[in-house]
Amino acid sequence: MLKSISCGGLRAEHAGHTVTLAGWVHRRRDHGNLVFVDLRDRDGVVQVVFNPDVAAQAHEAAQRLRPEWVAQVVGKVACRPAGTENPGLPTGQVEVFADQVTVLSESKTPPFYINEDGEVDELLRLKYRYLDLRRPHMRDLLLLRHKVVKFIRDYLDERDFAEIETPILIKSTPEGARDYVVPSRVHAGKFYALPQSPQQLKQLLMVAGFERYFQIARCFRDEDLRLDRQPEFTQLDLEMSFVDRDDILALIEGLYVSLVKVVAPQMRLRMPIPRLTYAEAMGRYGSDKPDLRFGLELADMTQTLRDTQFNVFRNVIAKGGVVKGIAAPGMAEASRRQTDDLISLAKTHGAGGLVTIGLSKSAASLDALAAEHVRSSAGRNLSVAEVHAMARLAGAKPGDLLLLAAGPANTVNNVLGQLRLHLGHQLGLADANELAFAFILDFPLVEWNEEEKKYDAVHHPFTSPRDEDWPLLESDPGAAKAKAYDLACNGFELAGGSIRIHRRDLQERMFKVLGYSPQQAEARFSQLLEAFNYGAPPHGGFAGGIERLVMVLSPGAKSIRDVMAFPKTQAGVDPLFGAPDVVEDKHLKELHIRIIES
Ligand code: AMO
Repeated sequence: MLKSISCGGLRAEHAGHTVTLAGWVHRRRDHGNLVFVDLRDRDGVVQVVFNPDVAAQAHEAAQRLRPEWVAQVVGKVACRPAGTENPGLPTGQVEVFADQVTVLSESKTPPFYINEDGEVDELLRLKYRYLDLRRPHMRDLLLLRHKVVKFIRDYLDERDFAEIETPILIKSTPEGARDYVVPSRVHAGKFYALPQSPQQLKQLLMVAGFERYFQIARCFRDEDLRLDRQPEFTQLDLEMSFVDRDDILALIEGLYVSLVKVVAPQMRLRMPIPRLTYAEAMGRYGSDKPDLRFGLELADMTQTLRDTQFNVFRNVIAKGGVVKGIAAPGMAEASRRQTDDLISLAKTHGAGGLVTIGLSKSAASLDALAAEHVRSSAGRNLSVAEVHAMARLAGAKPGDLLLLAAGPANTVNNVLGQLRLHLGHQLGLADANELAFAFILDFPLVEWNEEEKKYDAVHHPFTSPRDEDWPLLESDPGAAKAKAYDLACNGFELAGGSIRIHRRDLQERMFKVLGYSPQQAEARFSQLLEAFNYGAPPHGGFAGGIERLVMVLSPGAKSIRDVMAFPKTQAGVDPLFGAPDVVEDKHLKELHIRIIES
């Protein structure tokens, strides 16, 4: 090794030792006679002192050092003089008096500061990702990710799970996104699809008798990217035989809770983990991945307003719609601009509008609420008694702002769910150092796709309906519930899974509901259907996003990209390699591909 100890590892106990260090120049300060260099390696930063009276040559060489140069230093560790210690630095008790310095590599001036945590344009960061990852907080995120994956492997190994790799060049494995495809050179006109997940492969491993499988699996999905979505990402993928839903939920809970305690002990974990049905989550929080760090629950006003004189609401209710609301704490005196922002947010999520009702804090209590305390965008159309009843349902106090939306239940839930999230963050109700997990259960099995006039699987086509719901597959598929579950945390969907169909006849029934003809089902899924002819065990499992997990464990991460070494931009581009890129004509020819200019 070109070093005898790491820069970040030096402590008072090393005083008096002669050490060889190697790392990057983090900072250099010339103090007249003395030159101070903070030398950085993966483990941290230590102060090196160059004193011309101790080592004249080294002192002279140190004057040339610039940020991000790579240097090797031989020197003696000493405790810093009293009063000059740096308690903010783990190595702050000591410094190293250099005897020799060797420049191992020079650096151009970096395009952004490595030694300061300022905002840097993300495109620039991604183009120079190797520099971005030198920044200590980025390094910490990737090292945390390593710890997370290591913990998962150990935890599952101790519980008899076997890690088995599955192929990347495969055939379409639908999870609701588009496939990435790879042309075959040998088989003209044919393509491999990259797996959206190893779903069918892990089911085949259950048929193969492995009983407990997991994999840290790469998945590829061509879909619109968001803050928590990348085109390629990593899952903890897991499958078990001879289990029911609650066995898997118990495993997930044990794994995630122990993981948090070990790798992110500073995070506050809300226990116990609640279990909500999908209907409950949508009804109370307007989301199937609710952020439960704060309340702001949606209140249903429909019954209360059944006989209202306010036509807008009465008409909606008469047509089978709902009126629901939330109480924004302390926002009764919100400015016009603030309420306009809330209204436009509601509209972007499909609301026709939003009724806002300020409850003046001059009312002594909710019971004392009178007409003069109510500032409603619906004017006097809603009576004080109605406002009073709604405030009660929403848990509002004087000083709060009621926000009401009316329309079809799905739209209203979604709109208020978005407003709830927005307000939760804007009002600082969500504690960044807290983790609020929740299991979401009883998802619908399928949903109607109006555009294509067919049912789509809500989870994927291999998920089993509840036992009692099988007859609904022919009579009313939309009413069937699935043996599916998600793990949500802080407003993100961290993991999802289900108990699978393990009988060929039942899987064929499911394909039929999803609009596949027997021939189509055979062409796409014969591998699974055929396997089910040979004794498939009952099985189920789940998959959890590794990036999303690391992201919620580290409040410093602003997006999923921050916890990936080499992510792509929101537009699916890798600015470092310049991917995607054109390929040579010769290569295209080999692949039997002609580009059509559009
Ligand atoms: P699902 O599609 O719900 O289930 O994915 C499981 C988990 O993977 C993560 N995830 C993503 N992370 C980053 N970028 C993406 N584009 C992305 N898409 C999904 C999420 C999600 O909860 N085969 C099933 C699992 C099963 O049934 O066992 C599946 O893949 O954290």
